[in-house]
Amino acid sequence: MSERQKSSNVVWHHAAIDRAMREKQNGHKSAVLWFTGLSGSGKSTLAHAVEERLYAAGSRTYVLDGDNIRHGLCGDLGFSDTDRVENIRRIGEVSKLFVEGGTIALTAFISPFRADRDRVRGLLAAGDFIEIYCKASLDVCEGRDVKGLYKKARAGEIKAFTGISSPYEEPLNAELVVDTGSQSLDESAELVMKLLRERGIASK
Ligand code: ADX
Repeated sequence: MSERQKSSNVVWHHAAIDRAMREKQNGHKSAVLWFTGLSGSGKSTLAHAVEERLYAAGSRTYVLDGDNIRHGLCGDLGFSDTDRVENIRRIGEVSKLFVEGGTIALTAFISPFRADRDRVRGLLAAGDFIEIYCKASLDVCEGRDVKGLYKKARAGEIKAFTGISSPYEEPLNAELVVDTGSQSLDESAELVMKLLRERGIASK
């Protein structure tokens, strides 16, 4: 039991249908594709583009996206370090459920802290966690400023904004680094698909 465990008298129920059976029925392995990077680096766009390719090949997929999840499951969390840690902890647990459910989960969260990403990696079996660093410089992300948030952060209207007033710790051992700052979406998506084919997660 983890240190945070507060529930007592709870007993794990073992399901008759397990991950291996679901994977067999789905015709592919499950995994978590963990996209990390600055706001505006293209995590969501790339995750969705990869999902479309996997879906077209008949795979079971689901994208967990930072902005969307923060409307519901993580709607009670802000952007303090503590809240970001909790955000990623919850998403890690949810993505583990997806893996057990035989689905390929694609997560698109800034997930700025290396320790949090590594904790999620540790929750899963070796090979189930695929960290994909969407590498785009702050200059590029701020230049895009799709949501106008960098402008607000520079004006001091948003506190603790990643890259401006809150840190982003680059991955040191990501399974894949995608240069989303200069590559086209197609090129980036193809790189991810190539890795998934090599790992037997995607067939086409
Ligand atoms: S994380 O740091 O906890 O991983 P998450 O990916 O869920 O962040 O949410 C990031 C999104 O929230 C950004 O893409 C942006 O649209 C929005 N956002 C609002 N405030 C902030 C902030 N202070 N820092 C970063 N992103 C923010």
